Amino acid sequence: TKPAVLVTGGAGYIGAHTAKALHELGFFPVVYDSLSSGFREAARWGAFVHGDIRDGRTLGEALAAHNVKAVIHFAGLIEVGRSVARPDLFWDHNVSGTVSLLSTMREHGVGRLVFSSSAAVYGQAGRSALETIPESAPKAPASPYGDTKLACEWLIEAQCRAYGLTAVALRYFNAAGADPSGQIGEAHEPETHLIPLAIAAALGDGKPLTVFGDDFGTPDGTCLRDYIHVTDLAAAHVAALNVDLPAAAFEPVNVGTGEGRSVLQVVEAVGRAAGRAVPYSVGARRAGDPPSLVADPSRARALLGWSAKHSSLDQIVSEALRWERDPMYGAGVRGSAGRRKPKV
Ligand code: UFG
Repeated sequence: TKPAVLVTGGAGYIGAHTAKALHELGFFPVVYDSLSSGFREAARWGAFVHGDIRDGRTLGEALAAHNVKAVIHFAGLIEVGRSVARPDLFWDHNVSGTVSLLSTMREHGVGRLVFSSSAAVYGQAGRSALETIPESAPKAPASPYGDTKLACEWLIEAQCRAYGLTAVALRYFNAAGADPSGQIGEAHEPETHLIPLAIAAALGDGKPLTVFGDDFGTPDGTCLRDYIHVTDLAAAHVAALNVDLPAAAFEPVNVGTGEGRSVLQVVEAVGRAAGRAVPYSVGARRAGDPPSLVADPSRARALLGWSAKHSSLDQIVSEALRWERDPMYGAGVRGSAGRRKPKV
């Protein structure tokens, strides 16, 4: 029998791509999702359990029923801007949710965890905009979202020390793109991420894009980010599950390419791929946005044998565009297969 892996948040964007990778690489994914932002149709591989991570009873039943050996923990709130307005919600879902998950894993003797952390734990912390970030860099989250990811890491590390849990915290940079099969892709409601918004603007399905600030200390004045293809990100999770680590080890690992791209470079790449310029205007900065977040990905290579393979900006943008626009692609119907829910 295939080893069962619980995937919290497995009906969400990165979780669904990881469930597919697990299935393809010989694991049995058990998707555990409250569907508060995920899509039932995106949970297509393995089993599905409808539940909230803060509900320890349902969670424990899922661990026992499927004889779960390891957990990949994605479930949580992710919008940086909303976290500034509603930190209470973020601490409840992200931190209390992780407390509940860890207690339940401990009760059921599940000793292996891969945690969905974020480059948001770093903030800017006095770094120049052109420096890449190693895992040892100072942590100074610029948003309550980043605070909750860092708090979860501290908690997980302490649990590793306390009872021998083994954990890898993957600090993602900017997940983007879509699975090349066309079955799943990026779908958030509401959408706040740059690439899908730029595509919607180019296709005329959305509003013109607002570029959040062009007076940062970066080469063209717009923020630099490290865009990583979601397929590469999914592969990093499987590598983190497979890596041989001693009991009680806690390993934070950056998942990025090492290349920074500005907002305007993304806008140009989307325009090239779509064959139509992205209409945009420059607006105010968005609260909680650090000027630059670019990974030093050398630890991922050394520890996990992982590096990005599909993450050129042109590949990311062209696959994201295909997912958004081609009605013949994949399931092909808006509202299915984890596409954006129809507006009501
Ligand atoms: N941006 C705009 N206009 C928009 C949307 C975004 O200019 O309409 C800019 C942002 O200011 C930022 C860049 O585009 O500079 C990327 O923004 P995203 O919202 O796509 O992504 P973030 O960098 O804010 O955040 C993402 C994830 C977080 C994660 C973070 C870590 O959403 O969960 O990457 O780098 F923590």
